[in-house]
Amino acid sequence: MRCFPTKNRSLRILESTVTILAVVAALALILKRSDARASTNEKAVAPSGPTVEQGNKNIKVLTGMPEYQLIPTMKFFTVSLGVSCTYCHVMSKDGKMDTAADDKETKRIARGMIKMVLEANATTFHNEPQISCYTCHRGQAVVPKFSNFPVALKTMSPPAAGPQPTATATPALPTADEILSKYAAAIGGQAAIARIKSAVITGTVENASGSTGTFEADQVAPDKGYDSVTTQRGTRVRIVNEPRGWEKNAYGVNELSGQQLEDLKLSLALFGNLNLREQFSKFEVAAKEKINNRDVYVLNATRADQKREHLYFDSESGLLLRRVADTSTMIGIIPEQIDFEDYRAVDDVKLPGTVRFAAVDTQNPTSTRKIDKVEFNVPVDDSLFTKPN
Ligand code: HEC
Ligand code: HEC
Repeated sequence: MRCFPTKNRSLRILESTVTILAVVAALALILKRSDARASTNEKAVAPSGPTVEQGNKNIKVLTGMPEYQLIPTMKFFTVSLGVSCTYCHVMSKDGKMDTAADDKETKRIARGMIKMVLEANATTFHNEPQISCYTCHRGQAVVPKFSNFPVALKTMSPPAAGPQPTATATPALPTADEILSKYAAAIGGQAAIARIKSAVITGTVENASGSTGTFEADQVAPDKGYDSVTTQRGTRVRIVNEPRGWEKNAYGVNELSGQQLEDLKLSLALFGNLNLREQFSKFEVAAKEKINNRDVYVLNATRADQKREHLYFDSESGLLLRRVADTSTMIGIIPEQIDFEDYRAVDDVKLPGTVRFAAVDTQNPTSTRKIDKVEFNVPVDDSLFTKPN
């Protein structure tokens, strides 16, 4: 075992309200996807679990949407339009939001907009969610009608004399297999990875919302995970013990099912990042891009549950710098991003010392975990993985 030097002990630590993956520290993360086009092939996963009309009073157009996607979708509306919930929802006399009421014109307009988006995605885009509220609104409630006059002057290029220059050939990208093998070697190699049977990771959390705290993430191969975050707001625990999973927070204990459980499993998968290859059924090398001035190769990866991720590998070091997971909903793709920084050696493998989560959520847009300590192959009490009470 080895301790990470804590860079800034006085960092206020906080609790993560990001509803996303919990993540064993170094392990999983998410963020937002800037290239919607690369995500287009993702088909909505067949809903499992309750749908929104079952648990809410006044659903007219989002019928069939899995319940767990409702609030992420509403948050997506606020970010797409640059507004808060009360732009469309009224407050009732008791000071709570009455989300079922139809008093606001904006809510009624929004229903029409949802219908338009559903229809365009179903017909024009052949059931692949290509357009969303963000496509037109771009963070503003008012969509500009036209560009300002004068429009930009564009001159026609004169007809070229002689043969047109051919586009400079783009250098061939490596294959998915090469990228994944280089990554496995960069973090220590298959043999070192295979020796890890359990991990206990502790560190600090800092949320954009202002709360700070500590976390502990314990995992036992192949499929048991425990993730606990404690901040000023209390403790949130997430547990995976195949085939079940739970989340416990200030409001009580929830059993997770369907896509939520799949997401949690992946984020807690001890070796979520170590055994990256095993989580996906298909890889496709998409592009060469840059993250903070470093060249990265982008792999589009399809999980067994059909969810799409985009994986970004440093072209030089081979290390994984970013994962973007797309949740395909009726109204468009909602991305989540996880960035990995400060890779360092822990025993024979390399793990990121800082993990940053970003979500489409104005209440807590980012959550950062800094890892203080990693212990491999220490005994983990099995009772951690039972249903919390
Ligand atoms: C751009 C408008 C808009 C914004 C902003 C918005 N909503 Fe909604 N919301 C709607 C519409 C439209 C519906 C009804 C959908 C339908 O009929 O299928 C709805 C329905 C709901 C419902 C279900 C209510 C019920 O019982 O039927 C909840 C809960 C909800 N919204 C919560 C929120 C929260 C929380 C936020 C802020 C994070 C938010 N909404 C932001 C437009 C909006
Ligand atoms: C194809 C482009 C496009 C898409 C996609 C789109 N909108 Fe709009 N939206 C508009 C335009 C244009 C207006 C202005 C209409 C007008 O002035 O009458 C508008 C107006 C609105 C308004 C009223 C704003 C106000 O203050 O008057 C709301 C609310 C709204 N949209 C919500 C949404 C939501 C929610 C989505 C996603 C489900 C969405 N829109 C998707 C183009 C779009």
